[in-house]
Order: sequence, then structure tokens, then C-alpha cells
Amino acid sequence: MSKGTFYLTTPIYYPSGRLHIGHTYTTVAADVLARFKRFTGYDVQFLTGTDEHGEKIQEAAEKAGVSPKEYLDKIVEEIKDLWKKMDISYDIFIRTTDQEHEERVQKIFQTLYDKGDIYKSEYEGWYCTPCESFWTETQLKEGHVCPDCNRPAHLAKEEAYFFKLSKYQDRLLQYFEEHPEICYPESRKNEMVNNFLKPGLEDLCVSRTTFDWGIKVPFDPKHIIYVWFDAVCNYITALGYGSDNEETFNKYWPADVHLVGKEIVRFHTIIWPAILMALEIPLPKMVYGHGWILFGADKMSKSKGNIVYPEPLIERYGLDAIKYFLLREFTFGQDGNHTNRNFINRLNSDLANDLGNLVSRTVSMIEKYNEGIIPSPGVEGEFDGSLKEIATGAASKVENAINKLQFHDGLEEIWKVVRKTNKYIDETAPWVLAKDEANKERLNTVLYNLAEAIRIISVLIKPFMESTTNKIWSQVGITEDQGTDWESTGTFGKLKAGTAVKKGEALFPRLELEKEMEALENINAAYLEKISGAQESKEEEIVITAKEQITIDDFDKVELRAAKVLEAEKHPKADKLLVLQLQVGNEKRQVVSGIAAHYKPEDLVGKTVILVANLKPVKLRGIESHGMILAASTDEKLVLGTVDSDIPSGASIS
Ligand code: MSP
Repeated sequence: MSKGTFYLTTPIYYPSGRLHIGHTYTTVAADVLARFKRFTGYDVQFLTGTDEHGEKIQEAAEKAGVSPKEYLDKIVEEIKDLWKKMDISYDIFIRTTDQEHEERVQKIFQTLYDKGDIYKSEYEGWYCTPCESFWTETQLKEGHVCPDCNRPAHLAKEEAYFFKLSKYQDRLLQYFEEHPEICYPESRKNEMVNNFLKPGLEDLCVSRTTFDWGIKVPFDPKHIIYVWFDAVCNYITALGYGSDNEETFNKYWPADVHLVGKEIVRFHTIIWPAILMALEIPLPKMVYGHGWILFGADKMSKSKGNIVYPEPLIERYGLDAIKYFLLREFTFGQDGNHTNRNFINRLNSDLANDLGNLVSRTVSMIEKYNEGIIPSPGVEGEFDGSLKEIATGAASKVENAINKLQFHDGLEEIWKVVRKTNKYIDETAPWVLAKDEANKERLNTVLYNLAEAIRIISVLIKPFMESTTNKIWSQVGITEDQGTDWESTGTFGKLKAGTAVKKGEALFPRLELEKEMEALENINAAYLEKISGAQESKEEEIVITAKEQITIDDFDKVELRAAKVLEAEKHPKADKLLVLQLQVGNEKRQVVSGIAAHYKPEDLVGKTVILVANLKPVKLRGIESHGMILAASTDEKLVLGTVDSDIPSGASIS
């Protein structure tokens, strides 16, 4: 019997480019939660989709020389393909260009206008096009830079419709106090209360006239409904709110969880709840703002060229390894730094060593000591009690952690069982027991207990890594009647003696760290090349991220010199690097440079390049580099900076 309904959502993604590992993070987390809830008896609706209106999309389509719809259809297909590859079990995929959504949003807008919660006025403010957001002077960072994305905002003035956000300020504050789960984790709630609610809310501009790719205001069609208003409404329009049949809406609303990234918490915990209050609809039970996956302490972005895509990783390491890594490595709720080293180490330690080895050792021992048949347990022994206790006690802890969206804690609870079971092998030493026939009964117990603990582990990991669960079941011979539901993990002894085990491939092969680190760089670069080749328009929009301003004195600290390339060769240990010997005035310099994908060594000899001459020397993959040469690059292309005509090497550049 169903335990009730559970409605959860991811943000709807902007289809302005391929989704990277950061986007998949939200969706993988939501998918695990959806699977867990279904597994534990809930009637789940899991929504995801795409947010397709707004100036940014219109501009991107114009650039590509196609209509917005044509532009979007292609990317949306890619996004759906990605979710298929990642086995994302969504129930609803909404596109904000769906006619039903557009009609329902218009209806909502009309209702709020009729009620007086939306009114016409004039807006003047600082507008950030990439974020589709107006900002007040005080909200902007120095240099009139957008506080969300650090890109320049510009002054804009227009006749517009406003939503009476200010009217809901007190009710929102009270709601935050009475329902802290409207904004998790706690730190984000405090930020919303102190930075937005307490200082006072201004009415929100909810229409635009400067472009037309959006939903028209029904009673004034030269106005387009603000893309964020349109977007947040998806969570109810997708359930049929505003249609003739609101049965699904009535069944699943309010949402149990909206999962969102930290930068869009404000839209989901202030603007969205205020719209719902105005519509007199209950508020979502929980909004969870998770942290970002950073790459070298930076947010992943096209313009920084530090994007990691999931597809090549899945191809090389398998989907379960990627899902495990994402949810185990990073604390959901906080930012986390992604490094290739941590990725490989995590796969090796937790998956290959802990889980993979446990299964393969156990199956091998059952084959060796009991002809491949799981024996009936015989004599009880010293270490059995604690193994059983830890194994059967895990489910409630895992459940608790997942319900709080602490996926890393949930996995850690499961891995406590994995590690305890490995320890049990060392404690009971079956290979010693096997030496003496008199110990056969004890050996049988140990083998049975190992297989049974693995059964419990395989069920606990199912919401996280279903294909690994299936592989374990086929190796250990676990079938549905032997304890494969969530409740079964609370009982030790469900597995039937007499079942035949069957050794299979290693669940997770052990990886060689150095080799994989290099492979990771190459596969990501190759994937980038592949997708950029496939893009219709190669001309990418380069978004300038404003760095902190520096003075001429700061710049003066950098010593730039013309340098002549005397020799160039491949780095013996890294495919991406070249080792250059440079003449700089009367000095010779060795510089290691990451340009091997773009230049052949022989083409460089004789070129005059620009050298940052006073950089501290570093070792790159074992070879000293005394300086750095400058290059201009996009995601796909790199060309060396050079001088306009002949000049002696060593000439200073300023
Ligand atoms: N379209 C809006 C959401 C509207 S919801 C009504 C949007 N789209 S987005 O495509 O830019 O981002 C979608 C989600 O991806 C956000 O929750 C964002 O935080 C998340 N991420 C994008 N990059 C990320 C990381 N590097 N790390 C973790 N999450 C990241 O915003």
C-alpha cells in the first residue's frame, strides 16, 4: 500500500548549451531521492524540464541563425538523451514552451492582475541580461557588476507590470519562522531572512518589452511575462493547475521538495512562495539549496574553459561510479571542489577496494570452500553479533539521512556496513578455518554471513546504484524471494542457503592513478572537440567575466619579454604538454606549456613568443618550467600570443 504521495522537482534547466556535471549533480540527487521514495512505498511524481524563454535564448538562437524553437528543440533532445544515459527516472518533463504551460501561466498572471497583486508602472534599474534580473544600485558589486554572475549590468528603463512582493513580506517572515524547512540548509535560510526579508522587499518587475521571446501578458501583448515568473510556475502548471482538470495537481501539490542550486534559492523561497500566497495555494514543504561543484575553486563555465561533462566519464567509468562519486564526495548543501585525483581515489578506495573486493572475495571463497553453494549457517562465533547489528541497523540511518538530503551521510552509513563486512573476513579468517575439517560448521556460518551482509548492502545501495545492485544479485544468486525490498534489510537471514553463486566481472576495476589522471584530461578534451565539431555554429559567445581591478603598479610586477623558441619537444610523461627551450636576451629558459593539442613542436621553432619571465619556477609532471608563454584561447581553439614583427629576444613588453 502506498505511504502517500511524494512530489519532487529539479530546477528546469536553461537549454542554452550542453549540461555539465554541475547540472547533473542536482538531477542525480533528485533521482536518488525519487528512487528511494518509490522503493520505500511512496507514490512519486518527479519533475524536471527546461526553461526556454527569455532574451538569452532569443539571442543565442539569433546567433545560430535559426528560430528559437528550432534552436531549443535540438538542445532539449540532447538534454533528454543525457537523462536517458544517466537513467534518470523522471515522471514529468516540462518545457516552458509547451502550449499548456503558456496558457496556464497567462491564467495565473490574469488572476493576480484581477486581484490587484499585479499592477502597471514604470521600471528603471540595472539589468543583467545573462541572469535576466534587475538589480538595485546597492545590490550590484563594484563596477556595476551583477552580484550573481559577476558580469556587467546595464541601465534599462521600461513600462512594466509589477508583482506586489512587498505585500507578502510580513507573511513570508512569519512563514520562515514557523516552517524553517521552507529554506534548507539553515545557513541559506539565515541569508534569505537577513539579506532580503528583513531589509524589506521591493515589488518585483514581472514583465519585459525589450524582446519578444516569452509568454505574452494576456491583456497587454506587447509585454512579455518575466522569465522567472514563467519558470517557477512550471511546478504547478505541469500538474495541471490552471487547466480544466486539476486532479493531478490536487493529488500531488504541495511539493515535498524543490531541489535547487544555492544561487536560485531566492527565487524559490521568496518570490515563488509569495506568488503562491497570492494565488492562495499551499507552499512547498521544503526547498533545499545545495552547493556548487567547483573546479579548482572556480564555478564551471564555458568562458573559463573548465567544464567537466558527464558523458565521457560515464563511458569510461560507468554510470554508477559517477553517481556514487557525486553524492559521496560532496556534502550536499555545501560547495565542493572537483579534482580528477579525488575522483580516481574515491573510485579506487570505496568502489574497487571496499565494495568490489568484498563481493569478489566472498564469491571466490564460496566457490573454493563450498563448491559455489551458499551453505547453511552452523556454529555461531565471536564476531557475528556485531556484524548483524551493524548490517540490520543501517537502513533507518540511511533513510534518515536521505530524508534530510544528506546523501553523503547515507552512503557513509552503507559503507560502514561494507567496511565492517570486510573486517569480518579478516577477523574470522575463512582460509584458516578451511584448513581443518573440524571447523567446517564455523566456516559455513562465516560464508553465509558474508553473503547475507552483501545482500543487505546490495538492497541499501539500490536507490543510488541500481545496476551494481543487479550485478551483485546475479553474482550472489539473490532472487526476489530472498529479501530484495527495503524492509528486508532489517532482518539478518533472508538469503536462502543452497543458492549457487556465480563469479562475474569485477564490479569496479582498480584504476592506476597517474594513468587515469592523464586519461581524464584527454577524454574530456576529446569530448569537447567532438561536441564543438557537432555544433552548427562554431562561433561561440564569449562572456567576459570581470576580474578585480588592478593598478598600473600591480601590472608592473609582471615582467613580460619577447622570447625566441630554440627547441620544442613533447613532454615525455604528458600528452598535453610541450617542453620549450627559449632564448631570452642573453639567457636560456626552459618552459613547459600546455599547447600540445594545438601546436606541433617543429612548428614552434623560430617563433617569437611572449614570456611571463618572473613567474616562480614550478615542476610540471617532473620537468622544471621557468615562466609561462601567453596564448589566446576559447574552449576549442588556442593561438600563441606573438609580436607584430622582428624584435630581438629579451625585449621587454609593456
Ligand atoms: N532556469 C533556471 C532555473 C529555473 S527553476 C524554476 C536555472 N537554470 S540553470 O540551467 O542555469 O541551472 C540549473 C541548476 O543547475 C541550478 O540549480 C544551478 O545551481 C545548477 N548548477 C549549475 N552549475 C552548477 C555547478 N557547477 N554545481 C552545482 N550545481 C550547478 O538556473
